[in-house]
Amino acid sequence: MVTQLFIFLVLMNGTFLAKGGKFIDIEKLYNDKLSGYNKHLRPIVDTFKPITIYCTFQLVAIKELDEVNGKLSVVGFFEVMWNDHRITWNPVAYNHTYMLDVPENEIWTPEITLANPYDQLNSLGKGFMSVMYFSDGTALWFPGDVLSISCPLDVTYYPFDTQTCTLQMVCWGTSVSQISLLTPTDKVKQDFYIEHGTWELLDTVSTNVTMDIPVIHLTLTIRRRSQFYTVNVILPVMFMVVLNILVFVLPVESGERISYSITVLLALAVFLTLVGENLPKTSKPMSILSYFLLADLILSAVICFGTIYGLNVYFRDDNENPVPLWLQRLVNSCRCRRKKSSVYNKASKAKKCKVDLIEKSTTKISDIAWVLEEPTKVTWKMVARWLDSGMMVTSVIVLVVLKTVFFAITMSS
Ligand SMILES: *[C@@H]1O[C@H](CO)[C@@H](O)[C@H](O)[C@H]1NC(C)=O
Ligand SMILES: *[C@@H]1O[C@H](CO)[C@@H](O)[C@H](O)[C@H]1NC(C)=O
Repeated sequence: MVTQLFIFLVLMNGTFLAKGGKFIDIEKLYNDKLSGYNKHLRPIVDTFKPITIYCTFQLVAIKELDEVNGKLSVVGFFEVMWNDHRITWNPVAYNHTYMLDVPENEIWTPEITLANPYDQLNSLGKGFMSVMYFSDGTALWFPGDVLSISCPLDVTYYPFDTQTCTLQMVCWGTSVSQISLLTPTDKVKQDFYIEHGTWELLDTVSTNVTMDIPVIHLTLTIRRRSQFYTVNVILPVMFMVVLNILVFVLPVESGERISYSITVLLALAVFLTLVGENLPKTSKPMSILSYFLLADLILSAVICFGTIYGLNVYFRDDNENPVPLWLQRLVNSCRCRRKKSSVYNKASKAKKCKVDLIEKSTTKISDIAWVLEEPTKVTWKMVARWLDSGMMVTSVIVLVVLKTVFFAITMSS
């Protein structure tokens, strides 16, 4: 665009401005051009043709994104350019006056409106801006505003989500036969862009839309910076669950097991309440993080349950209420297998529990004898210990699977 380049040069150098005419020249030009000007008429000689309006968006900042209400607020201004044949002049006739500033409510300006606003339907232009005219009739207008758009958000992968919101700029009440709204660039300009703490601007697209009404679409793709949530939510919850699993290592005799596991469960519950306030309160779609936090809480509750049950088993009286035979056999077989593997490590020749008996290796005799004490009298304490290790291994496996699935799902998105 030759004109745009020209305008750019004018604005940057300021030399043309300095060479502008005197006050008297500008006043004369203003009166000549604005007297009898009808601002309600579209500035086009052939009224059967549409007037072309070029509109570029300069994004200044992302103000906020409200996940719960699906509202994106951005700060920015538009560079709107059109040609008004009524305000053209010969600069030399006005002592080298090349530019004229006219308040926007005294001349015709296009009524550009946000088509998907969050709350109010306002057209651009607050009434205090000026429109800059050049002697060839080119009008340049920079209406700026805070634009709040409604943007349906997908928080499934929160906090590793990427959102796409579109600002639909439309000239309401006109058809494409009257106004042709175009965007000369295929990206939103970011000359004055200020980074946002939570959202990273990934990409922008601006497109000419072919519709019956003049519309352009400005699409912003933003990605959440997830470090905050990883450090403040995901990792602490994970460590708390790990702490919770350690309850099975705590000796029963210390008498601290219940209070320990309840404390961790409470800490987790309090933490989840805090986290819940930061989570999007939408149910459609629901964030998978919510499900995984719930899974952590359930795991913690199950661990608490397991601790209580384990204590119940531990303090059962072996004389009044002996361990049932099937349970004895089960515990024994596990212990045998475990011992067997440890014996295997020391003497890899051994094949079976029974075979070990034949070997008279003096160093391993105690181990082997222990293994083959046939059948060991299983007490409730042994059952409780056996339960503890079983529950610990299961919890660790469940935790690892949960975290792996969570990171796999969110990271792959
Ligand atoms: C233009 O301005 C100069 C001073 O800057 C003045 O001398 C000259 O008379 C002016 N010309 C017209 C046509 O007003
Ligand atoms: C929109 O249309 C105008 C005129 O046809 C063209 O110059 C411009 O490049 C188009 N913009 C995009 C983003 O394609």
